Amino acid sequence: MTIFDTMQASTPVIPEKYTQMNADELTYRICEIKEKMGPTLFLPGHHYQKDEVIQFADARGDSLQLAQLSASHHEAEFIIFCGVHFMAETADILTRNDQKVYLPDLRAGCSMADMATFNQTEKAWSRLMDVFDDSIVPLTYVNSTAAIKSFVGKHGGATVTSSNAEKMIKWAFNQKERILFLPDQHLGRNTAYNLGIPLEQMAVWDPIKEVLIHEKDIKDVKVILWKGHCSVHENFTVSNIHHIRENYPDMKIIVHPECSRDVVSLSDHAGSTNYIIKTIDQAPSGSSWAIGTEMNLVNRIIHQHPDQQIVSLNPNMCPCLTMNRIDLPHLTWSLEAIEEGKPVNQIEVDRAIAVDAKKALERMLERT
Ligand code: 13P
Ligand code: SF4
Repeated sequence: MTIFDTMQASTPVIPEKYTQMNADELTYRICEIKEKMGPTLFLPGHHYQKDEVIQFADARGDSLQLAQLSASHHEAEFIIFCGVHFMAETADILTRNDQKVYLPDLRAGCSMADMATFNQTEKAWSRLMDVFDDSIVPLTYVNSTAAIKSFVGKHGGATVTSSNAEKMIKWAFNQKERILFLPDQHLGRNTAYNLGIPLEQMAVWDPIKEVLIHEKDIKDVKVILWKGHCSVHENFTVSNIHHIRENYPDMKIIVHPECSRDVVSLSDHAGSTNYIIKTIDQAPSGSSWAIGTEMNLVNRIIHQHPDQQIVSLNPNMCPCLTMNRIDLPHLTWSLEAIEEGKPVNQIEVDRAIAVDAKKALERMLERT
């Protein structure tokens, strides 16, 4: 289900009382309910969540770590996912049927995940089969709907995250001659390039125009990239890099691989949110960094390392707006609704979709 479909369905509106409570009152209620519910409740949180929310996370991580946690966490009956819609869907697919997953605000979607719909993917697949026969294995970034994961699982493919994309692309090339990589063209291009595949052997499938864009002989194409991107990371540009290089020659640049190929190729390091956090944690005091990723995380890293000079690669960046929809009022609402026995905003993936989506996720989890 795309976030648009979810919002079309009856979406309960947050009661006004939560938007009128102050931060202290909300914090008090969250602590109180968490303590009362103990291990029956579990709150995983993605690194991009704002501080006011992530402080309550029982575990925080990048997308891979959160998927692994979902697969291994068997105690909690109620899982309140502090992240975006596709992450909560993944948690629902990987947890037992009697564990319930909730997203505090159903509007917390991911614009990239919505750039590949099931119908578009079916059409693209049939056109690509006409051109390349049965020589393609599909891979999807976890930032995709459960329906896309299901499609990929059904066709022998797997999910990937920014932490294991290299490993999964290598795995895919052991299955078939070509890969279709959905929905983030940049993660696909950056990773395939690092594995030695030249840009001329990569084509782009445009799901709107329904055309395959390629430079050289179509027979040489090894990687078909879906024309999708992250609207947050596309705001890091080559001119941001030039600005840092000219004004801070000693500064290292580290970016997320959802940034464009040009930005990644001019940076010093690229990797997942967990990789970025670890690299700065391990850097010596006095080192200086420009970071190209979501602002809530960049601000947290700056705060945690006062001994280093750290800036955002783009000084005008905003946080990921959909991640930011999870806030204290919505978290309190979720918790109180569960406490009152009338939970709201449950994420429940259709079982028919979940079966094949789980295959795609498990193929990834078995290899990482
Ligand atoms: P990772 O935490 O896996 O690096 O993912 C970043 C992201 O954009 C999640 O939406
Ligand atoms: Fe989606 Fe980009 Fe936000 Fe991650 S940062 S949730 S990929 S829009």
